[in-house]
Amino acid sequence: MAKLLLRDLRQVVSPAGTSAPLRGSALADVDWIDDGYVLCDGDTIEAVGRMADLGSIGGDVFELDGRGLCAVPGLVDCHTHPAFGGDRVDEFSLRAAGASYEELHATGGGILSTVRATRAAGADGLSAAVERHRGWMLRAGTTTFEGKSGYGLDLETELASLRAVRGAGGVPTWLGAHSTPPEHASADDYLDFLLADVLPAAAQIAEAADVFLERGAFDQEQARRYLEACRAHGLTLRLHGDQFTEVGAIPLAIELSARSVDHLEATGPAGVTALAASDVTGVLLPASALFLDRPMPPARALVDAGAAVALATDFNPGSAFCESLPLVCSLAATQLHLGPAEALAACTVNAAHVLGRADRLGRIAKGYRADLTLLDAPDWRYLAYHLAGPVVATVIKDGAVAFGREAY
Ligand code: NIG
Ligand code: FE
Repeated sequence: MAKLLLRDLRQVVSPAGTSAPLRGSALADVDWIDDGYVLCDGDTIEAVGRMADLGSIGGDVFELDGRGLCAVPGLVDCHTHPAFGGDRVDEFSLRAAGASYEELHATGGGILSTVRATRAAGADGLSAAVERHRGWMLRAGTTTFEGKSGYGLDLETELASLRAVRGAGGVPTWLGAHSTPPEHASADDYLDFLLADVLPAAAQIAEAADVFLERGAFDQEQARRYLEACRAHGLTLRLHGDQFTEVGAIPLAIELSARSVDHLEATGPAGVTALAASDVTGVLLPASALFLDRPMPPARALVDAGAAVALATDFNPGSAFCESLPLVCSLAATQLHLGPAEALAACTVNAAHVLGRADRLGRIAKGYRADLTLLDAPDWRYLAYHLAGPVVATVIKDGAVAFGREAY
């Protein structure tokens, strides 16, 4: 396979060092090269440096003119819900007029309305939906995405959702415990079914398990039961926690050595302190807080206390119809008070850590996977600065151009 040389890049910027996850002040450390190059050999980065130091390269080399472009690592979205049918545009309009997300959920709208549409979509419809959503993510600069099930809630549709994510190249997470569907009398009955009938097959496809630990969804005891069973089947553990209420998500995540606890809009000072002292990564989803007009998570306090944090979109039809990590970086800077370098690390190396892939993803460095996002901007910090701007010009995945557009 020919090599790919990205040459004359205005800037090449990557989270510094080799460790993961980055915490505290290390989150803001970037390696920054002006007038640089990146040489890819197949799907791997072979060399990174200054144009002035570029020697001759043997063999076939395809060159990409990087003038005017800034390179950052391919963005990693570690929390999305891309496997769904239909949409929630009617609900969105009702919420705009004042109805609350929790009220809509309690009356059979919300998640359960997407469950009906997802079951009706069929396996082919779901695969087509995930492919379409993956395309949107790619155009926004995302080269690796995690995708959850959780809108099927029956054996067939949960497995079809996981297969659709995997088939589109995503990292599948089983979110069987998202909501209790109407054919089960109670959350406990539904968990009986999930663990006996779905988990053995889901664990063959998924890498992680996730649960919605929240008032009106699953309580701490139910979440513990679900997660312990999933762990026994070899799955990494994650939780949706502290989205609306603090009902024990952080203590449970720490008790079970979960990889992450995600949302945290309702987390108070004790939760911040506990999470910071743990190995659990806090995944912050500011597009979801914005979309639902909820408080933002205490990101600055978490970073200052030494917590490992990642940023993700939470892409889904109900609470965050947004696939753009650049927009999430803008929200991180304007709402979460994270600097552009902290935001970059949070949606590259730290997000890769959440997916168990930080040894190969999330940095521009020799030996890492040749996934890069090229920004059409005079400075890489336009990633956060240009609010909803067309900043992503070209996306390189596995050493090949996966998306490219004209300059803006
Ligand atoms: O992460 N909080 C639970 N689940 C999703 C939203 C699901 C939906 O509204 O469809 C979330 O926000
Ligand atoms: Fe989510």
